[in-house]
Amino acid sequence: MDAETAELLVSPSGAEAIAAAEAEDDPGSLAAATRLRRSYPPELAAAALTQAALRRRAGRRLGPRASGMVLTPDGLEQATRWDAAAWRAGLVAAAGVTRVIDLCCGLGTDAMAFAAAGLDVVAVERDPATAVLARHNLAGRAEVLTASAEDALPGLAGRPGTAVFCDPARRTSRGRSWDVADLSPPWPFLQSVLAAGEPAVLKLGPGLPARLIPAGAAAVWASVAGDLVECGLWRGLAFDPGAREAVLLPAGDRLRADGSAPAPAGRVPVPGDVLYEPDPAVIRSGAVGVLARELAAAPVADQIAYLLAPASRRTSFATAFAVTEVLPWKESALRRWVAERGIGTLEIKRRGLDVDPAALRGRLRPRGDAAATLILTPTAEGAVCLVVRRLPRTPVHAWHSA
Ligand SMILES: C[S@@+](CC[C@H](N)C(=O)[O-])C[C@H]1O[C@@H](n2cnc3c(N)ncnc32)[C@H](O)[C@@H]1O
Repeated sequence: MDAETAELLVSPSGAEAIAAAEAEDDPGSLAAATRLRRSYPPELAAAALTQAALRRRAGRRLGPRASGMVLTPDGLEQATRWDAAAWRAGLVAAAGVTRVIDLCCGLGTDAMAFAAAGLDVVAVERDPATAVLARHNLAGRAEVLTASAEDALPGLAGRPGTAVFCDPARRTSRGRSWDVADLSPPWPFLQSVLAAGEPAVLKLGPGLPARLIPAGAAAVWASVAGDLVECGLWRGLAFDPGAREAVLLPAGDRLRADGSAPAPAGRVPVPGDVLYEPDPAVIRSGAVGVLARELAAAPVADQIAYLLAPASRRTSFATAFAVTEVLPWKESALRRWVAERGIGTLEIKRRGLDVDPAALRGRLRPRGDAAATLILTPTAEGAVCLVVRRLPRTPVHAWHSA
């Protein structure tokens, strides 16, 4: 989007056109476009219909506040999920910070969360059109500067009570990227932000290689409802230097890795056992060993993040399954098993085996009214297929720290 279109969309006639587009049942339809063009110039009608479609899409990521925002497809794709933005802002405010410099504010989601947590916010955005939209979205709750982070930071830093936040862009002409070499601002600048005197938080992709985590920074992997969404690098606030933690959102439950590996793989599963699938944030943060001890469980095989225990315990950090049958991992036997039980809805999970669950499901030809969940995994005595029943979540909303 160019800055002119952005200005038009945030103007009173833009707001009116967007409201008319939102009143349409199907903003993507030709009929909607024809109706809007009767009242607005073609460019405004098209931009307003795009906004209506974007706001509908934005609900899951941003919640009800999306309805007042003006968005771009790229900006929405890169916007922080509200649960993560609100959690981070709450921690920053609780650490005694009073002012945040958001160096790459995009459409302004994180900046909105910082402002909602009662912090003074200076937001910086290099792209002029995005900066216009951020100014609109923040509605006076933050100062928005159209500038590059590199140019703006020296003049903004250095006031007491300030923390620096940066959620760099992760796109290249080749599309979305998690390689730090593709970040903007560049990785050396981001490292310098973290190494400077002020408390700082960088939001990076969850695949950040461990060797890139600077000494003295805490690395915190966050998942929202089981989706791994980010790795945050924190320095000078909220987390101990060098800590590795998992945080599960929206509840905010935290589990801290202690550097220990889980106990060696134990026995082969039997019916009546409980198999735990740790949340991806727990796996990425290296906290599987801590979790295994909390659950009195052991990996089902070495290097495999399924934990096996004779009985279930309450946890927020894993999905628990009751093992009801143990079958050999043999496709012909599984096909027979599926047919004999009239299984039409089949969920297949696997770890440590080179199997494509979707392709396998097709080959097992599920037909019928019954449903089943199968877990394929190596064990000390070879690969098996576990027939399991998902147990209800038993969250423990607490802080877990090793
Ligand atoms: C991942 S988005 C930020 C999303 C934002 N945290 C949110 O939740 O809405 C990154 C933004 O940084 C901007 N950007 C990239 N390089 C920049 C730089 N050197 N200085 C300032 N902004 C930059 C991009 O234009 C993009 O809007």
